[in-house]
Parts: sequence; C-alpha cells; structure tokens
Amino acid sequence: MTDVHRMYDPGPVPPAGVPATMRAVVQDRYGPPEHLQVREVPTPAPGTGEVLLRVSAAALNPYDWHLTTGRPYFMRLLFGLRRPARAVRGADVAGRVVAVGEGVVGLAVGDRVAGMASGSFAEYAVADATSVAVLPDRIPDDEAAAIPLAGTTALQALRDHGALVAGRHVLVVGAAGGVGGYAVQLAVAMGAVVTGVCSTGNVDLVRSWGATEVVDRTVTDWADGPRHDLVVDTVGTRPLAVCRRAVRPGGGYVMIGGPKANPWIDPLGRVVAGHLRFAGRPERFVQFTATRSADDLRVLWEHAAAGRLRPFVGRRIGLDDVPAAVAAVGAGHTRGKVVVDVAGGA
Ligand SMILES: NC(=O)c1ccc[n+]([C@@H]2O[C@H](COP(=O)([O-])OP(=O)(O)OC[C@H]3O[C@@H](n4cnc5c(N)ncnc54)[C@H](OP(=O)(O)O)[C@@H]3O)[C@@H](O)[C@H]2O)c1
Repeated sequence: MTDVHRMYDPGPVPPAGVPATMRAVVQDRYGPPEHLQVREVPTPAPGTGEVLLRVSAAALNPYDWHLTTGRPYFMRLLFGLRRPARAVRGADVAGRVVAVGEGVVGLAVGDRVAGMASGSFAEYAVADATSVAVLPDRIPDDEAAAIPLAGTTALQALRDHGALVAGRHVLVVGAAGGVGGYAVQLAVAMGAVVTGVCSTGNVDLVRSWGATEVVDRTVTDWADGPRHDLVVDTVGTRPLAVCRRAVRPGGGYVMIGGPKANPWIDPLGRVVAGHLRFAGRPERFVQFTATRSADDLRVLWEHAAAGRLRPFVGRRIGLDDVPAAVAAVGAGHTRGKVVVDVAGGA
C-alpha cells in the first residue's frame, strides 16, 4: 500500500503507543515548493520488510525538489502522473525504530538508525529495513540524517563508478554541496589527491575537508587547470567537450548532477550527449543513480565515527520551514546540508 493510500484512506491502525496522527510535509499535486503543506495526517504503519521510525532529524536533497515539482516531466511516469504516489516528502532520516513489520531481520524496536525513508519530513516515517542501518553512539542524529543520500552517492561515485585508488588525482565540482562535500572527504580518506571547485565563500570550508587545491569558480575556470584521473561533477553545466579535456586518457568523468533548465529532458539530454561525446575516446563517461544500501551506510558510519567524514550542517530548520528550504535547495547553492529538527519541533 502506498503512502497516499495510508493518508487518504483509514489505512492500518498504527502500532500500540504510536499516535493515530502526526505532523508531516505533504503535497497533493506537483508544483512549486510553496504547494507543500504542513498538516496533520494519519501515522503510517510498517508493511512487510519495513520499520516505522519516530523521526528525530531529516535532511533535504535536490531529490526532494524534483519530487515536489515533478521535474523533469518524464520522472512522473515513474513516481505518479499527477502527484507522487507517496504524498509525504523527505528521504534522509535519523530516528528510533518504534515498530517492525513482518519479515524484518536485524532491526528491533528501540534501535537508533539512519538512512532513507519514504516521507521523512514527518514525525513518523516508514523505511525499508534494507535502507537504514543502526548508528554508532558517536554520531548524533542531526549529523547522521545529513549523510545517507549524498554520502551514498559520493561513495558509489568514487569507489564503484570512478574506481578510485590511493594516489590518484580527483577533481570535485560542486565541492561545498552535499554530494561534493562528502566526495572530497571520502576521496581524501581513500588516499587521493583532491581538488575542489566551489564559490568564494566556501573555499576555506572545502580546504578544511582536506582538499589539496581549491578552485574558486568565480575567479578561475577549473577546465583551464591540469588534467585529472577522475572528475566528479555534481553540477554538470559546463560543455561536455570542456569536461572531457579535464580528464586524463584512461580516466573517468562521473556525472552526478546536470542542468535543470529544460523541464522535459534535463538532465537526461546531457546523459545522452555525454555518451556520444566520449564514445571511442580513452576517457570514460559515467552517469549513475545511487542505489540504497545498508552496507554502504555502515561504511559511511565508520568514516564518520573515525572523524574522516564530517557532515557539515549548514542550516537547521523546523518542519514549517521545509517548503521554503526545498525551494532554496532547488536553486542549487546550498552550503553543506539543511537538516530538519523534527523531534525538537523547531
Ligand atoms: N545521480 C544520483 O544518484 C544523484 C544523487 C544525489 C544527488 N544528485 C544530483 O547531484 C546534484 C548535487 O546534489 P547535492 O545534494 O550535492 O546538491 P547541493 O547540496 O545543493 O550542492 C550543489 C552545489 O553546487 C554548487 N554549484 C552551483 N552552481 C555551480 C556552478 N556553476 N559551478 C560549480 N559549482 C556550483 C553549489 O556551491 P557553490 O554555489 O559554492 O558553487 C552547491 O554547493 C543535484 O543535481 C542532484 O540532483 C544525483
């Protein structure tokens, strides 16, 4: 059963001790973020393979903007034609397990977990048991909530799609953003030599994460610099020919983000163009969609617990501030992560 049915039909009775309704950020149709509403809705119940979390903290990602606006339009074929099948927004989450569905192995009521849920901008959220992982004591909830989607994407970009090994030179474009910030820190942890690209106000921040070089994109064109073994591009707005020239023969260009100007095809048009532009060349073009993985979350927790991955919470907000924050994240100049303090009711 989808969340939308849980919200508009009576739905299953919430587990004992869980209130029948909760506050949540909800959308009834695709549109600009101001269409999002904070209202009282029925509390979901976990289905088979799912857990119910009492949400402590959630975090925003551009993904939330895409689901809110339904852009690019082709995405609606997957998520719902008039509105997302799941009406409550939010994915990144940290909280405590308050109920466990049938067939769940390895998680129990009372566990403190973080990961990706269906509708984390709410007091309670259902998550697939394989999309969350138990947190070490050393990682506080607000920092944990800031890691899952962006951290998983950065890890998979470097390790799985970039085949990064120690000593290689990596360029991270969008280095002060969610994915870029984690890509810088994880690449440093993997022994790479890292150059970050960001705007003036973020240069010191990116350097503090261990980047050897930081390019202020308002002053210097990163494409004019030396070639790199791996380019991780979370922005994707420079011409592909320019991006290719920044990669050493045998190296790779990993496209994580792309343009949003054309609501029909962006960023898909750039993916197609990228494969064509790199075809037959010694440089590789890679585009991927991050996959949810509890194992990868545990890798990220290890880095965070050891201090090698430091989540940067740029802003803390309450549930009522989420609509405006989704608009800001959609504009693409977020510094670090925006975290929603759900338990505190800020
Ligand atoms: N493929 C996947 O599975 C996947 C997963 C997660 C995210 N994404 C995509 O990856 C992109 C980044 O996500 P995110 O969570 O990191 O977003 P974010 O936190 O909003 O960060 C975006 C960063 O881009 C920088 N930026 C904006 N314009 C720039 C430009 N012209 N040149 C260089 N840097 C620029 C901004 O910093 P400055 O203004 O300081 O430069 C900002 O820090 C989004 O498009 C998102 O949809 C894809």
